[in-house]
Amino acid sequence: MVTVSSIKADIGGMVGHSSSHPDILDLGREEMERAKQRGLLIDAHVSHCGDDMFLIMTHDRGEDNTDVHRLAWDTFVKGTELAKKLKLYGAGQDLLADAFSGNIKGMGPGSAEMEIDERPSEPIIVFMGDKTSAGAFNLPLYKMFADAFNTPGLVIGEPLHGGFAFEIQDVKEHTQITLNAPDEIYDMLVFIGSPQRYAIKRVFNRLSGEIAAVSSTDKLSLIAGRYVGKDDPTMVVRCQGNFPAVGEVLEPFTTAWTVEGWMRGSHHGPLMPVALGDAHPSRFDGPPRLVALGFQLANGKLIGPNDMFDDPGFDNVRAEANNIADYLRKHGPFEPHRLPLEEMEYTTMPAVAAKLSHRWTATEATREHAMAAPAGEVE
Ligand code: F6R
Ligand code: MG
Ligand code: MG
Repeated sequence: MVTVSSIKADIGGMVGHSSSHPDILDLGREEMERAKQRGLLIDAHVSHCGDDMFLIMTHDRGEDNTDVHRLAWDTFVKGTELAKKLKLYGAGQDLLADAFSGNIKGMGPGSAEMEIDERPSEPIIVFMGDKTSAGAFNLPLYKMFADAFNTPGLVIGEPLHGGFAFEIQDVKEHTQITLNAPDEIYDMLVFIGSPQRYAIKRVFNRLSGEIAAVSSTDKLSLIAGRYVGKDDPTMVVRCQGNFPAVGEVLEPFTTAWTVEGWMRGSHHGPLMPVALGDAHPSRFDGPPRLVALGFQLANGKLIGPNDMFDDPGFDNVRAEANNIADYLRKHGPFEPHRLPLEEMEYTTMPAVAAKLSHRWTATEATREHAMAAPAGEVE
């Protein structure tokens, strides 16, 4: 068995929140190399999307392994020290805990891990997002694993024809449920259609029982209780054979879906799939973007990566994303560009509401009603 762990954090940006400094990524690579030499990791690849650093690691320690999580945490802490020296922006932004407590979950960084029985050929795609949030993969995962108009393999591919099981988390209540596609898709859509509350954590092939996909569902604002940046997500998806083909896994991203994030993590914007060379969001701190790194696993070694969105086949969706960005930006501070009030509760909203609370008075209609009503009937 081999475990693929993608663990990521924003530990400092350059310039502002737009990208990462090469020295920080090099530091990450050195730490990963040392961990390989001491036998903790089989292999590792360090990359970034915008201001987030992604540690893509393979090992044989299973999911939630303390040593692997400690390695990721220590790497982020060391990266933060360097980020502070370079005075990078928001150094240590996602490290919400003072000290490592055994598992990186709930400490700020996002993680997506899967333990698998490596197939004779094991193509995987690791997705890295920036300026978006956990839950952003709900719609693409649904398309990949439950929509025959996206994935013909669900209809004509025997190993996929039994459908897929979706493990869905309620990120506020910390509960989870598994629902089966295709039979339970109408029930499932009730929940996953609200990605700020319900996020798809894992997907399984129902016939073989194998894990097909895993995504990070860690919510920074729910951990910190206030706005501390968005939880730019990561996801690992297995491809081919019992799973959707590489092209079926990438196809959902030919539409620039509306996701949460963008400027100050408080806006809806189009999710733009980009090549690594374009993974430095600048316009209005965005638009939200996504990189897809493809690997072949070979006894746990990460052969690759291939930069999967570095393909003119995605030029149209990038143009679509820019058009949607132009349109949404015209709304300025109005919904639906700005997030709805409930989602603003972690921003300035509570402070502004508290400051003005004593200036709210009853409306005219309420006053007239109060005067007309016999005493005691209106509070
Ligand atoms: C969004 C993001 C940026 C910042 C914005 C303000 O995820 O990281 O849009 O929220 O640049 O940043 P501060 O408050 O650090 O000045
Ligand atoms: Mg940042
Ligand atoms: Mg980020």
